[in-house]
Amino acid sequence: MKQKVLITGASGFIGLHLVDAALDAGLDVYTGIRKTSNIAQFSEYSITHTYPDYGDLESLEKELELRQYDYIIHAAGVTKARSEALYNSINGEYTFNLVRAAVNAKISLQKIVLISSLASIGPLNEANSCITGDTLPQPVTAYGRSKLLAELKLKESGIPWIILRPTAVYGPGEKDIFLVFKMISRGVEAYIGKGEQKLSFVYVKDLARVAVKALFAPASREDYNITDGHAYSRYALADTIKAYLNKKSLRFHLPYTAVKGVAAVMEKLYERFNRTAVVNREKLLELTGANWTCDISKARRELGFSPEYDLKNGVKETIDWYKQQRWL
Ligand SMILES: NC(=O)c1ccc[n+]([C@@H]2O[C@H](COP(=O)([O-])OP(=O)(O)OC[C@H]3O[C@@H](n4cnc5c(N)ncnc54)[C@H](OP(=O)(O)O)[C@@H]3O)[C@@H](O)[C@H]2O)c1
Repeated sequence: MKQKVLITGASGFIGLHLVDAALDAGLDVYTGIRKTSNIAQFSEYSITHTYPDYGDLESLEKELELRQYDYIIHAAGVTKARSEALYNSINGEYTFNLVRAAVNAKISLQKIVLISSLASIGPLNEANSCITGDTLPQPVTAYGRSKLLAELKLKESGIPWIILRPTAVYGPGEKDIFLVFKMISRGVEAYIGKGEQKLSFVYVKDLARVAVKALFAPASREDYNITDGHAYSRYALADTIKAYLNKKSLRFHLPYTAVKGVAAVMEKLYERFNRTAVVNREKLLELTGANWTCDISKARRELGFSPEYDLKNGVKETIDWYKQQRWL
């Protein structure tokens, strides 16, 4: 019989790729989604949809017992929210409830993999080093703090866990970094401030593959920072997009304070529609972080992580997908 995996947040950008990777690994896939989730992409998939209520511990426990999962990949979460309380509730408390239910339920769960974020550690202020397993967490945003909270809740539990902290994830289906692709296709290349930045990226398929590998790896109760292993300048993404699109662009640097002012106005506007702006004052702290580069040797060694994509082939595949979907 196939082993069962619950993938929460399966309807999201990363979730779809997690489902693909889990199916490739021969797992019986159960999505954890909402009644309102868009699941059109799964119309041809042989998977089972479930609707966990993370706010109701008892029903969560029953659901886990009913399904008898072998593994869980917890990717449900918010990357944009209107308040710290909302971030903590969805990213922190929901994780806590899922973990508590998994502990209480009569199931023999072999592992839970949490898709956390490098934002739970935060960017470094200086350029001459990189984030390692020993870097003290200093998240600069409410989002980062809520992901750190989720990590702590998981670490306190008795179940076998792995925490993955991906840096900025891009690839087919991504909608935020997509704005950079779109700007450049229109000949515009805007930056916030003039400071130097060292950035990192990971292609979504590499992240999905390592998340599934982590389920089967002997390693347990360990956390891993996940990037494609390269350190990029702040211009590298744009340069790679331009090269593949064969486009020229007008590069300019907006003053940080001006962007912060615009972000404040955007926040107010979006608030009216109950939505969160992609560029908000919080996100600016991450977007302008000086150094997001990482040492991924622990993931290479213990999870067999071997990124197949760098920006060059990842951006190419992403642009092909955006074009196919007529997003570009
Ligand atoms: N994208 C990145 O660059 C990045 C980097 C590092 C870490 N991460 C982490 O990766 C995970 C997935 O991110 P993503 O980029 O795939 O985001 P996404 O596209 O926004 O997907 C988020 C998923 O979480 C679900 N979700 C959101 N709020 C929920 C709630 N209140 N109750 C139940 N489910 C809820 C969404 O369901 P619906 O479809 O119903 O909305 C969706 O399935 C997140 O935990 C995020 O923190 C992302």
